[in-house]
Amino acid sequence: MLLTIPGLLTSDELAEARRLLASAPWADGKATAGYQSGLVKRNQQLPEEAPQTQVLQRLVLTALGRSAAFQVAALPLRIYPPLFNRYDPGMGFGDHIDNAIRMPPGGRGAPLRTDVSATLFLADPADYDGGDLVIDDTFGSHRVKLAAGDLVLYPASSVHRVEPVTRGSRIACFFWVESLVRDDAQRTLLYDLDGALGNLRRRGLAGEPEMVALTGIYHNLLRRWAET
Ligand code: NI
Repeated sequence: MLLTIPGLLTSDELAEARRLLASAPWADGKATAGYQSGLVKRNQQLPEEAPQTQVLQRLVLTALGRSAAFQVAALPLRIYPPLFNRYDPGMGFGDHIDNAIRMPPGGRGAPLRTDVSATLFLADPADYDGGDLVIDDTFGSHRVKLAAGDLVLYPASSVHRVEPVTRGSRIACFFWVESLVRDDAQRTLLYDLDGALGNLRRRGLAGEPEMVALTGIYHNLLRRWAET
C-alpha cells in the first residue's frame, strides 16, 4: 500500500524544522547505506548524534503520535529514529530496496525489522527540480513529490529511487516502521476494513448489529496477524 498523509506537520512545526535544518551539519549519506545501496546513494544526511537531529526527531515523532491516519495505516510497533537528508543538484539515489533489519543508533535496543518506509517532505516542491521519489510495485512505477509537511508511506519491500535533483535542494525526513503486522497485504486489508467501518459510522450506522460484528472481525484479524 502506498499512502500519502497530507499535512502531517503543522506550519509552525515545519517552520521550526526548517530553522533547525538551516544550521545543520550535513554529512555524506553513505554512512547509513548498506554495500549495495551505497553504490547508488549520493546525498547528504544529518549525523544521528547532531543536536539538531535529536530535536527534529522529537518533533516528527510527536506529529506521528497524533496522526490517526499514520497509526491506522502503519500499525506501528516501533519507529526507527527519523533521519534527515538533503539532495543538492547532481545528487540522487538509484534503485534500491531498504535493508530489512536496522540496528538502533548506538547499538541501543533490539534490531528493528523495516516493514514500512516513510518519507516526510520538508522542502517546498517549487524550490527544487527533480528529486521525485519513484516507487515500483506490481502496478507499475509511482512518482511521489509532495508538499512540505506531507508524508508518504510505502512497503519497505519496494524497489525505489530518488531521481537526481537539477535545481535547488530537496530536504526530507525518512524513517522506517516495524509494524505490528509485517505483511503489507494484511495491513492493507485492515486499513481498508477500518476505512469502510469509519464511513459507516459517519453515516450514523454505528448502532447496527452488523457494525459490532464487522468491528469484531477487524480486531480478530488484527489479533490473528499482529506480532508484539
Ligand atoms: Ni531507500
